[in-house]
Amino acid sequence: MIRYDEVCGTFTLHTRHTTYQMKVSEYGVLLHTYYGPRVRDCDLSCLVQRKERSFSPNPHEAGGDRSFSLDVMPQEYSTCGVGDFRLSSLEFELPCGSRTADLRYAGFRQEAGKYALEGLPAFYGEGAETLVVTLEDAAAGAAVELYYGVFAEYDLITRAVRVVNRGSETLGLCRCASLCLDFTRSDMDLITFDGKHTTERCLSRAPLRPGVQSVGSIRGASSHQHNPFVVLCDRDAGEDRGLCYGAMLLYSGNFEAAAERDQFESCRLVMGIHPYHFRWTLAPGESFTAPEAALICSSDGLGEMSRRFHRAIREHLLRDPGQGRRKPVLINNWEATYFDFTTEKLLAIAGEAAALGVELFVLDDGWFGVRNDDNSGLGDWYVNTSKLPGGLEALVPRLHDLGLSFGIWVEPEMVNEDSDLYRAHPDWALRVPGRAPARGRGQLVLDFSRREVRDHVYARLREVLSSVPVRYVKWDMNRSLSDVWSAALPAGRQGEVYHRFVLGVYEVLERMRRDFPELLIEGCCGGGGRFDGGMLYYAPQIWCSDNTDAIDRLAIQYGTSFCYPACTMGSHVSASPNEQNGRATPLAARAIAAMSGAFGYEMDLSRCTAEEKEEIRSQIRTYRDNWDLFHLGDYYRLTDLSGPFVAWEQVSRDKRRAVVSLVAGGAQAAPPFRTLRLKGLDQALTYRVNGGDAAGGDVLMHAGVPLPPLWGDYQSLQLFLEAVEE
Ligand code: GLA
Repeated sequence: MIRYDEVCGTFTLHTRHTTYQMKVSEYGVLLHTYYGPRVRDCDLSCLVQRKERSFSPNPHEAGGDRSFSLDVMPQEYSTCGVGDFRLSSLEFELPCGSRTADLRYAGFRQEAGKYALEGLPAFYGEGAETLVVTLEDAAAGAAVELYYGVFAEYDLITRAVRVVNRGSETLGLCRCASLCLDFTRSDMDLITFDGKHTTERCLSRAPLRPGVQSVGSIRGASSHQHNPFVVLCDRDAGEDRGLCYGAMLLYSGNFEAAAERDQFESCRLVMGIHPYHFRWTLAPGESFTAPEAALICSSDGLGEMSRRFHRAIREHLLRDPGQGRRKPVLINNWEATYFDFTTEKLLAIAGEAAALGVELFVLDDGWFGVRNDDNSGLGDWYVNTSKLPGGLEALVPRLHDLGLSFGIWVEPEMVNEDSDLYRAHPDWALRVPGRAPARGRGQLVLDFSRREVRDHVYARLREVLSSVPVRYVKWDMNRSLSDVWSAALPAGRQGEVYHRFVLGVYEVLERMRRDFPELLIEGCCGGGGRFDGGMLYYAPQIWCSDNTDAIDRLAIQYGTSFCYPACTMGSHVSASPNEQNGRATPLAARAIAAMSGAFGYEMDLSRCTAEEKEEIRSQIRTYRDNWDLFHLGDYYRLTDLSGPFVAWEQVSRDKRRAVVSLVAGGAQAAPPFRTLRLKGLDQALTYRVNGGDAAGGDVLMHAGVPLPPLWGDYQSLQLFLEAVEE
């Protein structure tokens, strides 16, 4: 619900459990007055205390009123160079050379439904409302529109910003954040999700300290190193208690998320495109739209915050052609063969897989151009018929005969110098004049900011996807961007290339979705290097990590679960010992770790023993019978990562079914007796556990389930709970 109170000048956004408010002050500055648990309609500007503060300037129109300072008061969208020395959200380069921005309220409009952003990902759907508050910078001749989308039932507030040059001179835009959120407190922890290739999104939590603390990426992708999702929460917030604010940016390129604890112990969070090498030219009449950010506040801890994100993402961000249907169980040949395969080898793996219940065969890297290792072939998107005689037209019908549908790997944004594409168009790769470009995995990056480059690559992909029935595409991206310079833009516009690159990727993904509406696209960037809300809008699942070790995956998937729902996490059972870290784990633990995600296998199943094959058959049955719990159930983290085991639970919406998954670490002699307390059940119901004994929901939650002693390394268990008819 969006309420404008003309007398008080307040805009109040109510969701089911939260309230967000801003207010136009007497000098036209838009102040942020409150965001938190739902409160009644009232003017909350009493929370904005005023006092003269030395060295904090006062806007000119405040005259003798020295208590009004942009540097001290909470702003809705912070400006730059005009008296607020904290994190700025907006920075112009004015025709006179000044790098300032100053904003005053100009008006608002309300729209039914949720706004959309052309060419950019955004939450969508029924039941939402839109508020657009317009601010103006008179000296710049610019209007700044602040967009708010309110999904009341989901406690979700989305934000976006559009800057319009209404003046007669060209403006430079050097910073344009998507989100600015001021708090009148700073006794909070900042949680970020950090890591590296094969160890993505590991939770890191620390109290806010004075000054700015930030995470971000200047790698051209959202990155393995930091995720564009952060949390600010009470110092003692836990899974089930405490006030938490989660903020996600729906963007797949350079980003920055910065929190500043200022001199008066207030805090500001700013999130948006990273200002590194960002400068957008706005000619008169032109506009720039910053990507969407999304906020969820929960006063019931981090668990509830995550569940709200999961629901909102599943129901209002993902555009899965199979929405509400089970995803196919897949087999991917990468870890089984790498580049070394023949049709017969692929069919042998496929045949074994089909016999065990697998439904989709994914042909990974190496099927195109001259690609026998990672030094050549990228860009040449036609089938290598010496490897696959007769091409896909010969392979795919044989897969169909086995009862398997077909999926394929591509890496559209990249090119090897040893490729026909590069030989024909060397200027299509990003490179700085006079510098030899850095290689990453032996490859260069195509200039996806250029239409002709995108058109060429997409035309080739389209032909491949039209040549045989393709159910699934894995869209990969295996290096960071460097040497970012486009031959298509003049010197003064090179600051646009990073963002135009991302817009170009989104544009091709959208074309692919439009031309092949039934295609399931899986995002990938050396695993989870571009796991963000932007990609999820186009690719409803993302390969979570190149690390398929079940034990490492527990931490990666745990961190990922703070924002992203289980159904978005591509997770496969792979061979043991693991290819990335050499660890040996039982098949059961590998399957339990993978089953909560978009489930599949990535190993040569013909090497499995008869016993293992029987186990795999039963794992696939378990997944197929319970996929709705794994993918659509409410997710509860039952432990963190500090104990002897990691456990989590998914509960159906009607609370009549649940599944508990547990994977333990290394073996322990003389272990203590342990119980595991469950969550999210109906206290009054009685549940049968794994078809055997029954217990009350209250007992399972408050007293817990006794755990059997575990023998050996990496033991695991899965408990299926079903309410008993009474
Ligand atoms: C990336 C992906 C892997 C695999 C390889 C192929 O690393 O994350 O899953 O597809 O590329 O080269």
